[in-house]
Amino acid sequence: MPAIILDGTRIASDIRAEVAADVRAMAAARVRPGLAVVLVGHNPASEIYVRGKVKACQEVGIYSEQHSPADTATTDELLHLVEDLNRRDEIDGILVQLPLPPQVDSKRVLMAVDPAKDVDGFHPVNVGFLSTQRPGLIPCTPAGVIEILKRSNIPIAGQEAVVVGRSDIVGKPAAMLLLNANATVTVCHSKTHDLPGVCRRADILVAAIGRAGMITRDFVKPAATVIDVGMNQVTDPAEFKRLFAGNAKRAESFQAKGSTLVGDVHPEVAEVAGAITPVPGGVGPLTIAMLMFNTVKAARMLRGKWSVASGQ
Ligand code: GUN
Repeated sequence: MPAIILDGTRIASDIRAEVAADVRAMAAARVRPGLAVVLVGHNPASEIYVRGKVKACQEVGIYSEQHSPADTATTDELLHLVEDLNRRDEIDGILVQLPLPPQVDSKRVLMAVDPAKDVDGFHPVNVGFLSTQRPGLIPCTPAGVIEILKRSNIPIAGQEAVVVGRSDIVGKPAAMLLLNANATVTVCHSKTHDLPGVCRRADILVAAIGRAGMITRDFVKPAATVIDVGMNQVTDPAEFKRLFAGNAKRAESFQAKGSTLVGDVHPEVAEVAGAITPVPGGVGPLTIAMLMFNTVKAARMLRGKWSVASGQ
């Protein structure tokens, strides 16, 4: 039986509708959550992501502003910008889009963001809150992974969860969230011995590696839930063929555009898994939805006691 497709676009749209309702409730009390996005330079992928974030703010009613320092910006200039945003009362969330140019000390800049406004959840204070199960701001993509599981009624407690990838942005916080939800968690990486064998233990397999179609069917226990966090642009025709042989629809769009978006999970896994997130349309849309959620959460925490429906 082919896997159930977990529809991230639908789940993200549900969350955005809930956030929009929260924003309307706050508006009645004359409060408008505000997000500042800092985009340094002209990284094309970052420009697309930031456009999506600003558009989502407009749709849910969050005030947003974009700051676009040149790609020659120094660490000091960015520290000043962040400090200014920290001070402004109408700004509840600050997001510094990564990657920053090489001359910038990214860790220093991220550390300068007020933890109460750190809607990416990257500040060590929020990392510490997450690992000690205190309320705080949780990184958007891992939070989205948990939302997909919960809203699809996939049990987490007591399950074997395997996370492939140990990045600070996705792998580590995803592992921590699964652990906090009482899964038995294994984190794998490039030095893991017998990666397919370890992955086959998983009831919930989270792939956050950044390599197109690396997770093939031999990594997956039959009926497991597979969450694909990968976003890889494939341009090589041989690689396309390895992934999508026989898929006429994909071939047509690959021919037209010269590239296609692929996750870390090979499409053949859908023949083995019990449930799987597609790429595109799986985890991706959740990242922005959870950013909207975090901005409202930050506003609620900063501005006082908001008894709103989706309060966490
Ligand atoms: N670059 C890629 N993913 C992210 C993210 O989740 N947040 C930020 N700030 N930058 C990113």
